[in-house]
Amino acid sequence: PHKKVEKICCIGAGYVGGPTCAVIAAKNPHIQVTIVDLNADRIAAWNSDKLPIYEPGLDEVVRSCRGRNLFFSTDVDKAIIEADLIFVSVNTPTKTKGQGAGYAADLGYVESATRHIAKVAQGDKIVVEKSTVPCRTAQSMRFILEANARPGIHFDILSNPEFLAEGTAIADLTNPDRVLIGSLNTPAGRSAAASLADVYAGWVDRQQIITMNLWSSELSKLAANALLAQRISSINALSAICEATGADVDEVSYACGLDQRIGKRFLKASVGFGGSCFQKDILNLVYLSESLHLPEVAAYWRQVVEMNEYQKKRFLNRIISCLFNTLTGKKIAILGFAFKKDTGDTRESAAITLCKYLRQERANVSIYDPEVEERQIWMDLAEPGVQDERKELEKQFTIAPSALEACKGADAVVVCTEWDEFRNSKLDYKKVYAEMNKPAFIFDGRLILDQKELEEIGFHVEMIGRPR
Ligand code: NAD
Ligand code: UGA
Repeated sequence: PHKKVEKICCIGAGYVGGPTCAVIAAKNPHIQVTIVDLNADRIAAWNSDKLPIYEPGLDEVVRSCRGRNLFFSTDVDKAIIEADLIFVSVNTPTKTKGQGAGYAADLGYVESATRHIAKVAQGDKIVVEKSTVPCRTAQSMRFILEANARPGIHFDILSNPEFLAEGTAIADLTNPDRVLIGSLNTPAGRSAAASLADVYAGWVDRQQIITMNLWSSELSKLAANALLAQRISSINALSAICEATGADVDEVSYACGLDQRIGKRFLKASVGFGGSCFQKDILNLVYLSESLHLPEVAAYWRQVVEMNEYQKKRFLNRIISCLFNTLTGKKIAILGFAFKKDTGDTRESAAITLCKYLRQERANVSIYDPEVEERQIWMDLAEPGVQDERKELEKQFTIAPSALEACKGADAVVVCTEWDEFRNSKLDYKKVYAEMNKPAFIFDGRLILDQKELEEIGFHVEMIGRPR
């Protein structure tokens, strides 16, 4: 018989901890869920009418249970002491300094959360790795917990990686392809896994809740992201061949995707994948491979990231060469700054890289995104450590209140994010055209536009993966 979980604490109120534990609370009214964070502003926002992250359907879920069995708090100690089960859902960014800089995961936040648990826990706990971590991190967590625990306290450690994608987090959580739980293959480990499985069984079919050994579970998360990103780099590599040959990448993707062994999803060519995880997790895998003395394996995965960088650079080169080999003083409208639609998140967004390139080319850039906050855009454009940069940036960049406003007086429009409002049916491209400098160029980095219709208006249209 395994323990029934009555109280859950989630350390880290970010893109993963917030939505995941809000759904757990909504689906399990009998479980008290407290999400804690050291960042008091973030917690205040979770307790307000304007949640700190934009995610379709999230407001409704939070509203349905906040104050009932879902709580957001900065009192980390209290939540740890009360909980039977603790999710560690803190950030695991790429290390920027020291050994493994640029590749390895910075596990400092995981370690400090783990030490915090060891320090304040007064009874047995199930500790769940929710963050994406390198293989065998659970072992380090166990070591830290056991070395610092009060006498007689027992910790079980589980791996329970999260597979939600931003923009569809609530749908992904409500109807997951699978829930993965890794544990030690001991009676205590299996019993802890069963306790966590019960929480998910509040709404997920038992058959979709899979259990396996800890290290497989940890590695499966890195593997899944690497395989997904690898598909995008593969189709993007093909998009370069399409542009040079007259093939159309959407048609190639369609033809290949109909083969059930390949499948349709994640074969959309783009200006490059972004998001906080793909690059970070692949680099993590590269680092792991190198540490294991597997240089060929490391090189294989590294190429997925290199292809992504190449795709962004290639897109820039196409803009430059179409605009008569100089962008100096020309106005470029950037439509979309988020790394994908339906999120306000800009982490590793291809638009950031492109804007930095455009800055070097001395272009004037006007940016519009329906969800990203202005403050965030300025932060993303700034180079770290440069003082008074905002004034310099303002000489070249403006942030527009609408797509039409961004396009006024522009020489070229560049679609960087696939927001629905940029589609032909939603944006009045006749008006856009009328307001632009001529010849009016439009570059579609997301393959969402109707090329023919735009050409009829008068645009010169350039699409990723279609010949010039
Ligand atoms: P995030 O930066 O949005 O949130 C992490 C939060 O943890 C921050 O608010 C931070 O203040 C808090 N935190 C850090 N250390 C803490 C501590 N010791 N005590 C209390 N709070 C602390 O990150 P995220 O996007 O939610 O990602 C979290 C993890 O989940 C990462 O490992 C990531 O790889 C993984 N992941 C992310 C996604 C995604 O879509 N963003 C999807 C799956 C998995
Ligand atoms: C991704 C995974 O899809 C999630 O399963 C995983 O949990 C998450 O990473 C994580 O570990 O953080 P996310 O980054 O939120 O989710 O969003 P995706 O939908 O995967 O898109 C990532 C990037 O790839 C975006 O920039 C998107 O525009 C791009 N993309 C996606 C393409 O260019 N083409 C595609 O066919 C699909």
